Amino acid sequence: MAVIIDGKALAAEVDQDTKKQVDSLLKRGLEPHLVVILVGDNEASQIYVRNKSRRAEKLGIKSTVIKLDADTSEQDLLDQIEKLNTDDSVHAILVQMPLPDQINEFKVIETISPKKDADGFNPVNVGRLSAGQMDHTPVACTPKGIMKMLEKYQVNVDGKNVVVVGRSNIVGKPMSYLLLNANATVTVAHSHTANLKQLTKTADILVVAVGKTHFIKVQDIKDDAVVIDVGMDRDENGKLTGDVEFSSADKVASFITPVPKGVGPMTISMLMQQTVELAKWSKE
Ligand code: GUN
Repeated sequence: MAVIIDGKALAAEVDQDTKKQVDSLLKRGLEPHLVVILVGDNEASQIYVRNKSRRAEKLGIKSTVIKLDADTSEQDLLDQIEKLNTDDSVHAILVQMPLPDQINEFKVIETISPKKDADGFNPVNVGRLSAGQMDHTPVACTPKGIMKMLEKYQVNVDGKNVVVVGRSNIVGKPMSYLLLNANATVTVAHSHTANLKQLTKTADILVVAVGKTHFIKVQDIKDDAVVIDVGMDRDENGKLTGDVEFSSADKVASFITPVPKGVGPMTISMLMQQTVELAKWSKE
Protein backbone atom coordinates (compact mmCIF):
# COMPACT_ATOMS: atom_id res chain seq x y z
CA MET A 1 0.00 0.00 0.00
CA ALA A 2 1.20 3.46 -0.92
CA VAL A 3 2.10 6.22 1.50
CA ILE A 4 -0.57 8.90 1.05
CA ILE A 5 0.94 12.34 0.60
CA ASP A 6 -0.99 14.68 2.89
CA GLY A 7 -1.27 17.95 0.96
CA LYS A 8 -3.54 19.52 3.50
CA ALA A 9 -1.14 19.01 6.41
CA LEU A 10 1.83 20.17 4.37
CA ALA A 11 -0.07 23.27 3.19
CA ALA A 12 -0.74 24.13 6.84
CA GLU A 13 2.99 23.83 7.56
CA VAL A 14 3.85 26.12 4.65
CA ASP A 15 1.25 28.63 5.87
CA GLN A 16 2.72 28.62 9.35
CA ASP A 17 6.10 29.48 7.94
CA THR A 18 4.62 32.16 5.66
CA LYS A 19 2.80 33.71 8.62
CA LYS A 20 6.08 33.98 10.54
CA GLN A 21 7.70 35.70 7.59
CA VAL A 22 4.77 38.11 7.23
CA ASP A 23 4.99 38.99 10.93
CA SER A 24 8.66 39.82 10.62
CA LEU A 25 8.06 41.92 7.47
CA LEU A 26 5.25 43.81 9.22
CA LYS A 27 7.67 44.63 12.03
CA ARG A 28 9.95 46.15 9.42
CA GLY A 29 7.04 48.20 8.09
CA LEU A 30 6.52 46.14 4.94
CA GLU A 31 2.99 44.83 4.36
CA PRO A 32 2.90 42.22 1.58
CA HIS A 33 0.04 43.08 -0.77
CA LEU A 34 -1.57 40.79 -3.35
CA VAL A 35 -4.02 42.19 -5.91
CA VAL A 36 -6.33 39.71 -7.64
CA ILE A 37 -8.26 40.78 -10.72
CA LEU A 38 -11.44 38.92 -11.59
CA VAL A 39 -13.12 39.65 -14.91
CA GLY A 40 -16.73 38.49 -15.32
CA ASP A 41 -18.73 36.10 -13.19
CA ASN A 42 -17.36 32.61 -13.83
CA GLU A 43 -18.55 30.69 -10.78
CA ALA A 44 -15.46 28.56 -10.26
CA SER A 45 -13.24 31.64 -10.62
CA GLN A 46 -15.28 33.50 -7.99
CA ILE A 47 -14.72 30.66 -5.54
CA TYR A 48 -10.98 30.49 -6.30
CA VAL A 49 -10.62 34.25 -5.84
CA ARG A 50 -12.56 34.21 -2.57
CA ASN A 51 -10.36 31.38 -1.26
CA LYS A 52 -7.20 33.27 -2.20
CA SER A 53 -8.24 36.48 -0.46
CA ARG A 54 -9.41 34.63 2.65
CA ARG A 55 -6.13 32.78 2.92
CA ALA A 56 -4.18 35.99 2.46
CA GLU A 57 -6.11 37.70 5.26
CA LYS A 58 -5.56 34.73 7.56
CA LEU A 59 -1.80 35.07 7.08
CA GLY A 60 -1.68 38.84 7.50
CA ILE A 61 -1.15 39.52 3.80
CA LYS A 62 -3.12 42.46 2.45
CA SER A 63 -5.36 41.40 -0.40
CA THR A 64 -7.34 43.54 -2.80
CA VAL A 65 -9.83 42.02 -5.23
CA ILE A 66 -10.66 44.09 -8.31
CA LYS A 67 -13.87 42.90 -9.98
CA LEU A 68 -14.40 43.93 -13.58
CA ASP A 69 -17.48 43.41 -15.76
CA ALA A 70 -17.57 40.53 -18.22
CA ASP A 71 -17.61 43.02 -21.12
CA THR A 72 -14.46 44.88 -19.96
CA SER A 73 -12.24 45.71 -22.94
CA GLU A 74 -8.74 44.33 -23.22
CA GLN A 75 -7.31 47.86 -23.13
CA ASP A 76 -9.13 48.69 -19.88
CA LEU A 77 -7.71 45.60 -18.24
CA LEU A 78 -4.19 46.33 -19.52
CA ASP A 79 -4.49 49.91 -18.20
CA GLN A 80 -5.49 48.60 -14.76
CA ILE A 81 -2.48 46.29 -14.73
CA GLU A 82 -0.12 49.11 -15.76
CA LYS A 83 -1.38 51.19 -12.85
CA LEU A 84 -0.70 48.34 -10.41
CA ASN A 85 2.75 47.78 -11.96
CA THR A 86 3.79 51.30 -10.91
CA ASP A 87 2.04 51.28 -7.50
CA ASP A 88 4.78 50.69 -4.89
CA SER A 89 2.27 49.42 -2.33
CA VAL A 90 1.46 46.41 -4.57
CA HIS A 91 3.86 43.45 -4.60
CA ALA A 92 1.95 40.72 -6.42
CA ILE A 93 -0.65 40.79 -9.19
CA LEU A 94 -2.79 37.85 -10.27
CA VAL A 95 -5.37 37.94 -13.06
CA GLN A 96 -7.72 35.00 -12.62
CA MET A 97 -8.06 32.81 -15.73
CA PRO A 98 -9.99 32.08 -17.88
CA LEU A 99 -10.73 35.51 -19.33
CA PRO A 100 -13.66 36.48 -21.57
CA ASP A 101 -13.15 35.96 -25.32
CA GLN A 102 -12.49 39.64 -26.16
CA ILE A 103 -9.34 39.58 -24.01
CA ASN A 104 -6.09 37.96 -25.14
CA GLU A 105 -4.72 36.07 -22.12
CA PHE A 106 -1.15 36.13 -23.31
CA LYS A 107 -1.19 39.91 -23.70
CA VAL A 108 -2.45 40.18 -20.14
CA ILE A 109 0.27 37.86 -18.83
CA GLU A 110 2.94 39.82 -20.74
CA THR A 111 1.71 43.11 -19.26
CA ILE A 112 2.00 42.04 -15.61
CA SER A 113 5.43 43.18 -14.41
CA PRO A 114 7.76 40.16 -14.07
CA LYS A 115 8.62 41.54 -10.62
CA LYS A 116 4.95 41.37 -9.51
CA ASP A 117 4.06 38.15 -11.29
CA ALA A 118 2.24 36.16 -8.59
CA ASP A 119 1.57 33.21 -10.93
CA GLY A 120 5.01 33.11 -12.55
CA PHE A 121 3.35 33.05 -15.99
CA ASN A 122 5.12 36.10 -17.51
CA PRO A 123 7.44 34.97 -20.35
CA VAL A 124 10.42 36.62 -18.63
CA ASN A 125 9.90 34.36 -15.63
CA VAL A 126 9.13 31.31 -17.76
CA GLY A 127 12.39 32.03 -19.61
CA ARG A 128 14.34 32.36 -16.37
CA LEU A 129 12.91 29.05 -15.14
CA SER A 130 13.73 27.29 -18.42
CA ALA A 131 17.29 28.67 -18.24
CA GLY A 132 17.64 27.19 -14.75
CA GLN A 133 17.73 30.68 -13.20
CA MET A 134 15.58 29.92 -10.19
CA ASP A 135 16.82 32.62 -7.84
CA HIS A 136 14.33 35.52 -7.50
CA THR A 137 12.10 33.89 -10.09
CA PRO A 138 8.39 33.42 -9.35
CA VAL A 139 7.20 30.02 -10.59
CA ALA A 140 3.74 28.60 -11.32
CA CYS A 141 2.29 27.67 -7.94
CA THR A 142 0.92 24.18 -8.62
CA PRO A 143 4.23 22.71 -9.87
CA LYS A 144 6.07 24.60 -7.15
CA GLY A 145 3.79 22.93 -4.59
CA ILE A 146 4.43 19.52 -6.12
CA MET A 147 8.20 19.98 -5.79
CA LYS A 148 7.65 20.90 -2.14
CA MET A 149 5.61 17.71 -1.60
CA LEU A 150 8.30 15.53 -3.19
CA GLU A 151 10.94 17.20 -1.05
CA LYS A 152 8.93 16.81 2.15
CA TYR A 153 8.37 13.09 1.54
CA GLN A 154 12.05 12.71 0.60
CA VAL A 155 11.31 11.51 -2.92
CA ASN A 156 14.60 11.85 -4.77
CA VAL A 157 14.06 13.04 -8.35
CA ASP A 158 17.72 13.14 -9.43
CA GLY A 159 18.25 10.64 -12.26
CA LYS A 160 14.67 9.36 -12.10
CA ASN A 161 12.46 8.79 -15.12
CA VAL A 162 9.59 11.21 -14.76
CA VAL A 163 6.59 11.30 -17.07
CA VAL A 164 4.47 14.45 -16.95
CA VAL A 165 1.10 13.93 -18.65
CA GLY A 166 -0.24 17.30 -19.81
CA ARG A 167 1.60 20.24 -21.41
CA SER A 168 -0.30 23.28 -20.10
CA ASN A 169 1.48 26.54 -19.35
CA ILE A 170 0.01 26.42 -15.84
CA VAL A 171 1.15 22.91 -14.85
CA GLY A 172 2.78 20.59 -17.40
CA LYS A 173 5.45 22.85 -18.87
CA PRO A 174 6.66 24.56 -15.67
CA MET A 175 6.56 21.15 -13.92
CA SER A 176 8.86 19.69 -16.57
CA TYR A 177 11.34 22.56 -16.18
CA LEU A 178 11.41 22.29 -12.38
CA LEU A 179 12.04 18.56 -12.60
CA LEU A 180 14.70 18.98 -15.27
CA ASN A 181 16.43 21.60 -13.12
CA ALA A 182 16.39 19.00 -10.33
CA ASN A 183 18.21 16.51 -12.62
CA ALA A 184 15.28 14.25 -13.47
CA THR A 185 14.95 12.70 -16.94
CA VAL A 186 11.67 14.21 -18.04
CA THR A 187 9.22 13.15 -20.73
CA VAL A 188 6.20 15.35 -21.39
CA ALA A 189 3.25 13.41 -22.78
CA HIS A 190 0.00 14.88 -24.10
CA SER A 191 -3.09 14.18 -26.18
CA HIS A 192 -1.05 13.50 -29.34
CA THR A 193 1.44 11.14 -27.66
CA ALA A 194 1.55 7.66 -29.23
CA ASN A 195 1.21 4.71 -26.85
CA LEU A 196 0.78 7.03 -23.89
CA LYS A 197 -0.15 4.31 -21.41
CA GLN A 198 2.95 2.29 -22.29
CA LEU A 199 4.97 5.37 -21.53
CA THR A 200 3.30 6.10 -18.18
CA LYS A 201 4.10 2.53 -17.15
CA THR A 202 7.83 3.28 -17.45
CA ALA A 203 7.69 6.24 -15.05
CA ASP A 204 9.42 6.19 -11.67
CA ILE A 205 7.48 9.37 -10.95
CA LEU A 206 4.22 10.07 -12.76
CA VAL A 207 2.58 13.51 -12.73
CA VAL A 208 -0.88 13.62 -14.27
CA ALA A 209 -2.54 16.92 -15.22
CA VAL A 210 -5.06 16.24 -17.97
CA GLY A 211 -8.42 17.07 -16.38
CA LYS A 212 -10.07 13.72 -17.16
CA THR A 213 -11.60 11.66 -14.36
CA HIS A 214 -9.66 8.43 -13.71
CA PHE A 215 -7.64 8.78 -16.93
CA ILE A 216 -4.80 6.75 -15.36
CA LYS A 217 -5.62 3.35 -13.91
CA VAL A 218 -3.62 0.78 -11.98
CA GLN A 219 -2.41 -1.05 -15.11
CA ASP A 220 -0.82 2.20 -16.41
CA ILE A 221 1.45 2.56 -13.37
CA LYS A 222 4.80 0.90 -12.67
CA ASP A 223 5.20 -0.96 -9.37
CA ASP A 224 6.43 1.39 -6.64
CA ALA A 225 6.01 4.51 -8.78
CA VAL A 226 5.37 7.88 -7.14
CA VAL A 227 2.02 9.17 -8.44
CA ILE A 228 1.09 12.87 -8.36
CA ASP A 229 -2.51 13.63 -9.37
CA VAL A 230 -3.21 17.24 -10.35
CA GLY A 231 -6.78 16.51 -11.50
CA MET A 232 -9.74 18.37 -10.01
CA ASP A 233 -12.50 16.58 -11.86
CA ARG A 234 -16.14 15.79 -11.19
CA ASP A 235 -17.29 12.20 -11.59
CA GLU A 236 -20.79 11.25 -12.85
CA ASN A 237 -22.22 11.94 -9.36
CA GLY A 238 -20.63 15.38 -9.14
CA LYS A 239 -18.04 14.21 -6.61
CA LEU A 240 -14.55 15.75 -6.73
CA THR A 241 -12.09 13.20 -8.12
CA GLY A 242 -8.67 13.09 -9.73
CA ASP A 243 -7.11 12.08 -13.04
CA VAL A 244 -5.91 8.85 -11.36
CA GLU A 245 -8.12 6.00 -10.13
CA PHE A 246 -6.89 6.24 -6.56
CA SER A 247 -8.69 3.17 -5.17
CA SER A 248 -6.63 0.82 -7.32
CA ALA A 249 -3.50 2.94 -7.92
CA ASP A 250 -2.67 3.07 -4.22
CA LYS A 251 -2.08 -0.71 -4.31
CA VAL A 252 0.93 -0.41 -6.65
CA ALA A 253 2.33 3.08 -6.03
CA SER A 254 4.94 3.77 -3.34
CA PHE A 255 3.62 7.31 -2.74
CA ILE A 256 0.40 8.86 -4.05
CA THR A 257 -1.49 12.14 -3.70
CA PRO A 258 -5.24 11.92 -3.01
CA VAL A 259 -7.95 14.17 -4.47
CA PRO A 260 -9.11 16.14 -2.55
CA LYS A 261 -6.45 17.01 0.06
CA GLY A 262 -3.49 16.38 -2.23
CA VAL A 263 -2.03 18.85 -4.69
CA GLY A 264 -4.97 21.30 -4.46
CA PRO A 265 -4.37 22.71 -0.96
CA MET A 266 -0.69 23.29 -1.75
CA THR A 267 -1.37 25.66 -4.65
CA ILE A 268 -2.85 28.52 -2.61
CA SER A 269 -0.19 28.08 0.07
CA MET A 270 2.54 28.45 -2.54
CA LEU A 271 0.82 31.56 -3.92
CA MET A 272 0.90 33.12 -0.47
CA GLN A 273 4.54 32.17 -0.01
CA GLN A 274 5.36 33.64 -3.41
CA THR A 275 3.55 36.89 -2.61
CA VAL A 276 5.75 37.28 0.45
CA GLU A 277 8.87 36.51 -1.59
CA LEU A 278 7.91 39.14 -4.18
CA ALA A 279 7.41 41.69 -1.38
CA LYS A 280 10.87 40.87 0.01
CA TRP A 281 12.56 40.97 -3.39
CA SER A 282 11.02 44.38 -4.11
CA LYS A 283 13.26 45.79 -1.36
CA GLU A 284 16.49 44.11 -2.47
N1 GUN B 1 -7.19 29.64 -13.22
C1 GUN B 1 -7.01 28.33 -12.89
N2 GUN B 1 -5.80 28.16 -12.31
C2 GUN B 1 -5.22 29.38 -12.28
C3 GUN B 1 -3.96 29.84 -11.79
O1 GUN B 1 -3.12 29.10 -11.29
N3 GUN B 1 -3.75 31.18 -11.93
C4 GUN B 1 -4.63 32.02 -12.51
N4 GUN B 1 -4.31 33.30 -12.62
N5 GUN B 1 -5.80 31.62 -12.97
C5 GUN B 1 -6.09 30.30 -12.85
